[in-house]
This record gives sequence, C-alpha cells and structure tokens, in this order.
Amino acid sequence: MPISNAQELFVHELSEVYDAEKRLIEGQQEMVEYATYQDLKSAIQEHLEQTRQHAANVERVFTELGQEAHRETNEVAQGLVSEAQEGMQEAQSDALRDATIVSAVIKVEHFEMGSYRSLVTAAHLMGQTESKRLLRENMQHEEETARIAEQSTEELLQKAMQEGKQEEELGLMDKGQGQADGRVASPKAGRRREATEKGVRCPTSRLPSFRTASRTTCPSMPRRSTRRPSTPPKISTGRRIGPTAWLGAP
Ligand SMILES: [Fe+2]
Repeated sequence: MPISNAQELFVHELSEVYDAEKRLIEGQQEMVEYATYQDLKSAIQEHLEQTRQHAANVERVFTELGQEAHRETNEVAQGLVSEAQEGMQEAQSDALRDATIVSAVIKVEHFEMGSYRSLVTAAHLMGQTESKRLLRENMQHEEETARIAEQSTEELLQKAMQEGKQEEELGLMDKGQGQADGRVASPKAGRRREATEKGVRCPTSRLPSFRTASRTTCPSMPRRSTRRPSTPPKISTGRRIGPTAWLGAP
C-alpha cells in the first residue's frame, strides 16, 4: 500500500507492530510448551501476559487515531518466530533447547525495542500524548525483558555446555572405556547416537539427518512429543533465575 505522508507511515508501522505482537503471542505459547527449566518457563508465561497487554495497548493507539485495529504482515516477526520454532525442534537436549529459547527471546525483544522507539518518536512529533504513553509503556517492557534475558543467557549456556560434557563422557564410556569398572552410558545418549548414525531422513526434502530435519523444514516429520520433565536440569551452576528476576518490573 502506498505511503504518502507521516501519518500513513505511522499507521503502517503500527499495523506491523500489531501483527508482530499477535505472532509473538503464539510464538511464546510454543516456547512455554518447550522450555524445561521451570523458571524460564514461568518467566515466558509472565511475559506472554505482558505481550497480550502490548497488543491491547496498540489497539488503544488505533482508537486514539480513530481507526480500527488492523494487521499488516510483519515479515521480520514472522521470520523470528519461524527461526525460534526451528531452533526448538533442532535442539538435541533440554538444556540446549532452553538456551535456544532465551536467545530467541533476546532477538525478539531487540526487534520490538527498535519498532517501538520509532513509534514513540513519531507519536511525540505528532503530538499524540496518549499514544506516546502507551507505546512507551510497551517499549519499556521490551527493554527490561531484553536486559534480564541477556543476564540469563550465560547461566543457560553453561548448563548446556555442562550437559554436553556429561554426554561426551557417557559416550566415551558407552564405547568401552567405562567397561572396566562396570559403568554404562545413559539410554538417552544411546538413542541420540543411534538416530544420528541412522541419519533419519525427511521424506519430503533432502535434509540429511535427524539433526537438521525439523517440522519447519520438513512438514511431514511427526511433531515432537509435548512431554516435559517435571524437574529442571540437574546441573547447578549457582545462581537461580527467578521469574521476577528474569522479567523485573518495568
Ligand atoms: Fe516482548
């Protein structure tokens, strides 16, 4: 649609951020389903509620402009959600999946921060005081969420790295090095190795193996089980990430 003045540009950007919020509501619902670390899960659940409020705030801005809320496809948000889905499918362990999720959250929040910063400036220049307040509220939530998600990344990556080390050790034991003292490898490590060695192929694409095929890249693949362990990852690296600490108060 042609954009012929600043007001139309503002509405265009608003329609795109509205579309983004709606897509991110769906994306975060999936993240809640896939996250295993309980604090991360709870934090995303809380931010999901915040995101619903963001969409409602954008609807109020449309009302301030005397327009019906409407969406224009936001291809960046579409891509971010799709990348996050692919990452969650491809991660080969719960800890890796949690690290993938927090990384996706950071990317999403930075994208939203940029979108809202432009909109706040535009609302300010157009003298739209209430719209500016609503958009700034959204922006501040995104900034705070990004900041705390960034702080959580190190701990979640450490968990993934520690888990990798353990898997590696168990893998070596499985190949015979642990036979002398009677130790055995974990069934999970064995199943993963078996799947990789078999190179499970996507029937509708040329993807070579289980590691690279996902429902996003291979729609004919069965959906992952929604089962989630009730306990968080076993390895403790010190500080816990509490939902309130993760999200903080804007
Ligand atoms: Fe957000």
